[in-house]
Amino acid sequence: MNQPVMQGLTLNTPAYVKNAKLIAWVADMVALCKPAHVYWCDGSEAEYQRLCQQLVDAGTFTKLNEAKRPNSFLAQSDPSDVARVEDRTYICSAKKEDAGPTNNWMAPAEMRTTLQPLFDGAMRGRTMYVVPFSMGPLGSPIAHIGIELSDSPYVAVNMKTMTRMGKAVFDVLGVDGDFVPCVHTVGAPLAAGQADVKWPCNKTKYIVHYPETREIWSYGSGYGGNALLGKKCFALRIASTMGRDQGWLAEHMLILGVTNPEGKKYHVAAAFPSACGKTNFSMLVPPAGFEGWKVTTIGDDIAWIKPQADGSLRAINPEAGYFGVAPGTNFHTNPNCMASLDKNVIFTNVGLTDDGDIWWEGMEKDGPVPSHLIDWQGKDWTPQIAKETGAKAAHPNARFTVSAVNNPALDDAWNDPAGVKIDAFIFGGRRSTTVPLVTEARDWVEGVYMAATMGSETTAAATGQAGIVRRDPFAMLPFMGYNMSDYFQHWLNLGEKLAAAGATLPKIYTTNWFRKGEDGKFTWPGYGENMRVLAWMIDRIEGKGQGQENLTGISPSYADLNWTGLNFSAEQFASVTSIDKADWLKELELHAELFKQLEHRLPKALIETKAAIERRLAA
Ligand code: GTP
Ligand code: SPV
Ligand code: MN
Repeated sequence: MNQPVMQGLTLNTPAYVKNAKLIAWVADMVALCKPAHVYWCDGSEAEYQRLCQQLVDAGTFTKLNEAKRPNSFLAQSDPSDVARVEDRTYICSAKKEDAGPTNNWMAPAEMRTTLQPLFDGAMRGRTMYVVPFSMGPLGSPIAHIGIELSDSPYVAVNMKTMTRMGKAVFDVLGVDGDFVPCVHTVGAPLAAGQADVKWPCNKTKYIVHYPETREIWSYGSGYGGNALLGKKCFALRIASTMGRDQGWLAEHMLILGVTNPEGKKYHVAAAFPSACGKTNFSMLVPPAGFEGWKVTTIGDDIAWIKPQADGSLRAINPEAGYFGVAPGTNFHTNPNCMASLDKNVIFTNVGLTDDGDIWWEGMEKDGPVPSHLIDWQGKDWTPQIAKETGAKAAHPNARFTVSAVNNPALDDAWNDPAGVKIDAFIFGGRRSTTVPLVTEARDWVEGVYMAATMGSETTAAATGQAGIVRRDPFAMLPFMGYNMSDYFQHWLNLGEKLAAAGATLPKIYTTNWFRKGEDGKFTWPGYGENMRVLAWMIDRIEGKGQGQENLTGISPSYADLNWTGLNFSAEQFASVTSIDKADWLKELELHAELFKQLEHRLPKALIETKAAIERRLAA
């Protein structure tokens, strides 16, 4: 298979690659993208070091101070390429209604015609990296394999940390195993002799999914979810479609283990929108007053959840690392995360200190603010400049890439192919008003309703305006691979199926850590203090926790939470839990707007649940 596919270019297919479909596809993509070289990643440590050095030589990476941050690098992206691009993300199902009203859609044939000239020659002058990866433990029955072809070595090294990447994938794939083909280009071909830039990308961007044929095509961006195609594109958008067809769930959820002082362990999966606290919650350190409680991390962003014959749900984290938000992270808000970042990290778009370390907004809580640094755009930054111009050391969506094994709170079962049994789901948006701290749904349908109608203030994780309340059903708005109404029905069907199998269904909660007071500041202390709410949930599961019926479910009163070690008055508690009638009347208008948008195929049970809330509100 090593005869030239183009003049002067061979595929270099290693002898251990035996999958005919894969080899033929790579040959096709080489013929289309016309790279100068093809390199098959083996996933070894030596390869990682070599590629990182190559990125340093190219100016994409800055090696950090080996004494302060061993084996770690900083990448500063092009200022135009700093986040996912939701308006350039497409679900190209055969029928428009299967993508649904919340997704951008184009007919597959039309999209293929659009992409063809863009991909034609897109990798000229560059190396095409063949990146084999497994989402989920290698060879496990719940794992799925992808192959990403990318002209970005930055993508190759990030995929090494974020997935099980390397040549062992080809053993699992064998001669006729299945894989999701993922093609990625930064869209910046190099003419002969043309010098490269530090962060090649293209103004034109397309993040395209063909759910029926399970293909991913990404053009023009080198950043995060646009380029690391195992994550949002595969593990959420394509996998949600696989889950619809096969009866399981792919969710934008962290998974944590929580052990109470009696030594009983529970597992919770929580969906918060992008940059709304999943990484933080998954690594939570119980505060004073919660001695004997322990929280361990299974995953921080994505959960694949499969129903079992006994009606239980078991979840795995398909990823192997964390691509987490840096700003706001410090030893007070997330000590386990900071400990995870002490070595072997790739930082993207944070500040570079004069002694070769990193810094971002929020780290002022841990020590002195550097008197000078180079900001994420490569400019001089001082506290004075920040004060005068508002310049940030780190971009608000600056991120770190780090292996899960760096996490001191990593759960023993994080790599277990059997997954962990889910006892509760949490859905939590970022809302300065209206939504109370915590509510327990009375039943599965009410929980699905609350998840479906969740709103959240937008963050820097997506381009566009930050701080606008938008509906983000199940925290999946940017990640749904099919029709949102069908997805609600899928959740309702699953509940019925689990109940029919005789199982006690997981409890469903909604949370809001983000209510603000008249001073404009968060009233709830959040972070580790969220343990107080988590402990109440676990007590409820055990049948011990007290609560009162409310507008949208059951909620604790002040005396129902453990306040040991925290000064938080009943008055403050009231201000983060109060349910204001006028606010909720307005909120239900927004639910109505969403339901209007999703009218086609919207489950009746949700319309009835809304009517029940309206009746309670009117009473
Ligand atoms: P994605 O990786 O984008 O899916 O986001 P995520 O949900 O994992 O978000 P992450 O945990 O990285 O949190 C992002 C931001 O939320 C950071 O700026 C945190 O400081 C802030 N944050 C996290 N937890 C809390 C909390 O309990 N209260 C408040 N006020 N802010 C929080
Ligand atoms: C998110 O935006 O929810 C992320 C980061 O987890 S990215 O992988 O860039 O989508
Ligand atoms: Mn995410």
